Amino acid sequence: MKKNNILISPSILAADFSALGAEVTDIDNAGADWIHLDIMDGHFVPNLTIGPDVVSNLRKYTKKLFDVHLMTKPANNWIEPFSTAGADIITVHIEAEDDIKKTLQAIRNLGLKAGVSIKPSTSENILEPYLNYCDLILVMTVSPGFGGQKFMRSQLEKISNIKKMIEKKGLNTLIEVDGGINLETSKLCIDAGADVLVAGSAIFSKNKSKYSHLIQSLRNES
Ligand code: DX5
Ligand code: ZN
Repeated sequence: MKKNNILISPSILAADFSALGAEVTDIDNAGADWIHLDIMDGHFVPNLTIGPDVVSNLRKYTKKLFDVHLMTKPANNWIEPFSTAGADIITVHIEAEDDIKKTLQAIRNLGLKAGVSIKPSTSENILEPYLNYCDLILVMTVSPGFGGQKFMRSQLEKISNIKKMIEKKGLNTLIEVDGGINLETSKLCIDAGADVLVAGSAIFSKNKSKYSHLIQSLRNES
């Protein structure tokens, strides 16, 4: 994937779930680059969210790229259903499958971009053998499962280490950061090497007129 300016991928986990279509339209109009969809199975993480039927219904509301974050174990059985539902990127947790290379190849074989995510407790060193098989690394800066948690500063070094690994191999792999992103922590992530920022609770609220300004501010461009 080509590197560009900082991309913002709002997580609809913090949106009004009784009006998801309207929320997706609003966040699209406010300038979101991607739409981040958190898929939780109540097993890999202690929470439940949405399945492929909700994702395919949301597809009608935006042409923006669907950034599907699978927090399921196993992950393999969900790749095809979410591809059919309209995912553009599918990111799987390295902790969720034994043969992650096979999983990433299955995603790419469907014509999608493949991402690998790591929990805060997982060392970035285990990513090294898989860098050639993915388009994106998703660094979790909270323990996966819930929105609105505090950003873990301990993960900043992991972001810069992954950046070095990518550069050493001459790859264009994007680094996405997810969890506790706000106007302060976004800057720290960008300085550490992030390309894409996920933000849920920092964007979604009853005050939809603020979405555009918040997205722009998270990019830290001006
Ligand atoms: C957590 C999810 C995140 C979450 C982020 O497991 O992967 O995408 O929605 O929410 P905030 O931005 O509120 O930390
Ligand atoms: Zn997420």
